[in-house]
Amino acid sequence: MGDKMHNPVNISARALSFPESPIRKLNPLADRAKDEGVKVYHVNIGQPDIATPDEFMNGIREADFDVLSYSPSKGIKKVLESLVGYYSDQGIKLGSGDLMITTGGSEAGLFAFYTALDQGAEILIPEPFYTNYRGFAQMAGVDIIPIPTERANNFALPDGEEIEDLITEETGALLLTNPSNPTGRIYSEKEINTVRNLVTKNDLFLISDEVYREFAYGDTRPVSALNLEGIEDRAIMIDSISKRLSGCGARIGTLASRNEEVMNATLKLGQSRLSPPTMGQLGLARFLNSPTYPSEIDRMIDRYEKRRDTLLEGLDRIDGLSFGKPDGAFYLMVSLPVEDAETFVRWMLTDFRDEGETAMMAPGEGFYNTPGKGKDQIRLSYVLNREDLERVTELMGKGLAQYEG
Ligand SMILES: Cc1ncc(COP(=O)(O)O)c(C=O)c1O
Repeated sequence: MGDKMHNPVNISARALSFPESPIRKLNPLADRAKDEGVKVYHVNIGQPDIATPDEFMNGIREADFDVLSYSPSKGIKKVLESLVGYYSDQGIKLGSGDLMITTGGSEAGLFAFYTALDQGAEILIPEPFYTNYRGFAQMAGVDIIPIPTERANNFALPDGEEIEDLITEETGALLLTNPSNPTGRIYSEKEINTVRNLVTKNDLFLISDEVYREFAYGDTRPVSALNLEGIEDRAIMIDSISKRLSGCGARIGTLASRNEEVMNATLKLGQSRLSPPTMGQLGLARFLNSPTYPSEIDRMIDRYEKRRDTLLEGLDRIDGLSFGKPDGAFYLMVSLPVEDAETFVRWMLTDFRDEGETAMMAPGEGFYNTPGKGKDQIRLSYVLNREDLERVTELMGKGLAQYEG
């Protein structure tokens, strides 16, 4: 027994080829800087610093039961009903059968990919895009075909014909993130209509990631895919309370569709993972039935709009940057006057210090599928308070001046 040779175990090819998070891969450099006592301002990730609403936390704190049990696979009835009320307030009329509660928007995204797309299928996504879609695609065995957009054009969608040229026999869905992470774009009615016509004409699902729905700062409001006439059977919405309630750790999202077959299929996926988190649902039900809703969300929006403006003012003072004004979410892509933004981001973490402080940005290239695109770009998240954001722009300005010198 002791001298029996074992064949080495093999990690699956699927696991080995799983994409590394381009946002988190530089974390060891940030950790090293922190170990040296350097203060690092994180504008590389979308983790808000705003307190989760009291009423949400009270729903968790005051939970009073002996057994922390599974909830139903599609979510607790009272929470689903409260969500129907929330969506109605947002102008999206749904029945509770059109909804299921998921473990964050992440699980809703994964379930949407599994449900809408066969293995080997293709999904069209405007690039740059939220990097975790790559993980969902890998898990579902799906290929992402990027729809090119340009920073100089504020990431507007190309014409319908240009998008249609990318559609093949294998294309099963088009995904829009509206408002967009990482660009902050809110798609115009014209763009949304182009997409609606394309998915109708080419028999595609429209997966619409609306987790930043409320974060819209100008006159343009994001149009929900669920409100588009004529595609009721095609639209699948991904949603989450992580950002709008600053409750990323509650792990509560939703998947919604008026297509009964889609909901039946996603429920089976939900059953295989048993249950979405119970505590987060209790917090959400309490919040949505409290008098502070929706004023707390309004307050949150107001704070992000001010943060956006502070960040834009700070960036305006730095020479050589190119960026547009984002309409929504809390992200911004910026072109830097350097050849390779990732090298600059690394250098900021390893070499640059100003009074013992530095800033960490997300290199832009990781948000693109097309090799070489976004090489001079970074993504900034305005999830810090305004004073910290001012300091971030100061650090960026000083960093760039030294780096170029
Ligand atoms: C566009 C987008 N969709 C989905 C998610 C997933 O969020 P969560 O799983 O916390 O709900 C995020 C998180 O950053 C996001 O930016």
